[in-house]
Amino acid sequence: MSDGLIKVLIVDDIPSTLDNLQKLLSFEPDIQVVGTATNGKEAIDLSKKSAPDIVLMDVNMPIMDGIQATEILAQEIPNSPVIIMSVQGERDYLRRAMQSGAREFLIKPFSGDELIASIRRVYQLEQKKESFMAKAPAAAAGGAAPAEAARPRADQSQVIFFYSGKGGVGKSLIAANLAVSMAKETKARVALVDLDLQFGDIGVLLNLDHSQGITDLVENIEHMDPDFIREVMVEGPFGVKVLLSPISPELADLVTVDHIRKIFAEMRKIFDFIIVDSGTHLGEINLEVLDHADRIVVVTSLSIPAIKDTKLALKIFDSLSVSPDRVILLLNKSDAHSEFNKESVEANLRFPITAQIPNDAKLVINSINRGNPFVTTHPESEISQRIRELVGKMLPTAPVKEVEVIDKKQKKGLFARR
Ligand SMILES: Nc1ncnc2c1ncn2[C@@H]1O[C@H](COP(=O)(O)OP(=O)(O)O)[C@@H](O)[C@H]1O
Ligand SMILES: [Mg+2]
Repeated sequence: MSDGLIKVLIVDDIPSTLDNLQKLLSFEPDIQVVGTATNGKEAIDLSKKSAPDIVLMDVNMPIMDGIQATEILAQEIPNSPVIIMSVQGERDYLRRAMQSGAREFLIKPFSGDELIASIRRVYQLEQKKESFMAKAPAAAAGGAAPAEAARPRADQSQVIFFYSGKGGVGKSLIAANLAVSMAKETKARVALVDLDLQFGDIGVLLNLDHSQGITDLVENIEHMDPDFIREVMVEGPFGVKVLLSPISPELADLVTVDHIRKIFAEMRKIFDFIIVDSGTHLGEINLEVLDHADRIVVVTSLSIPAIKDTKLALKIFDSLSVSPDRVILLLNKSDAHSEFNKESVEANLRFPITAQIPNDAKLVINSINRGNPFVTTHPESEISQRIRELVGKMLPTAPVKEVEVIDKKQKKGLFARR
């Protein structure tokens, strides 16, 4: 890791596959294969010795299979993240593996480009995470530090504001899944605030008890302190703390800009990341958060109304002198059938799309109806992987060497299905 190369261990019981993978990776100047293993047990032994940055793991192998090996690696060598390689039809296994620690998976046959992109993605997220976690205050010598003190912290609390000029583009869904994924991946203190004050959906999306929320803070604003805020927030998956919207639309008007200012000032003291979902109305409250947010995720999709509204929103941001550096333009349902594509949307908006989330109707509907975020139930899905990538983008930029992606203009062959 110190020489900037990504050290990869390849694990597969078929010698020709090992050989192919090794050859393919040898073309990449930023990747170094540090070893090969033919079963899970060997993979664990080798990982202990060579501390690879990435373990490429097959599933079906003699002595110890890839799933079991992944479980053990995740426990014992968490800094060596695993990418699972499997054949179609092993999805149930995969879910288990992902839940016990694999970071991504590749379905055979996969292309060389997919493999290399996956390796770089997992590596970069791991680097950012490690540098973020390294900021955890060291536990007091000789005694157990309180759990709170042992958590990593962002130097400064980061407010991430989700906005779109159009409803129904996926803001709430993505904000909720991002918050859960962030808490799960980084162990940071993550808050999720539903500022769609009239029709907030976060409570439903995460299946939370909606008996308290922002209205309780507003009613007691003079006595509000971090303890009270924590009490009013509802706990979601992986310890995400959620500040819910008012239980009924007419209560939305009770919340003023001044309240929002005070609430955010207090929340910044106790959270590393504050993820904010919003309604479409660009009124005083949204403008206030927009003004102070560290990141603004503008969600759009491949439809004329969404593009038109995004264009208007970006124009307003510009007139408010919102720096484009703060804006992440996110294309949701990026692979939906449409006469538009990413490039035509970028050309129209004159703004680069820096994040994309694929369409996955079945998984999303199931996840919404059950109130279970897909990043926890289906961490292996493409949509969850893209959310994790977004988490990586949100972590404060660490002084790690970004891996340069070199276009080798060389078409990589497809792997044979074994
Ligand atoms: N990536 C996606 N794949 C499939 N369906 C999606 C996706 N994103 C959003 N949806 C659908 O769009 C609906 C609206 O999403 P939602 O997050 O409520 O939008 P918003 O908060 O922007 O109004 C969701 O209920 C879901 O059915
Ligand atoms: Mg919404």
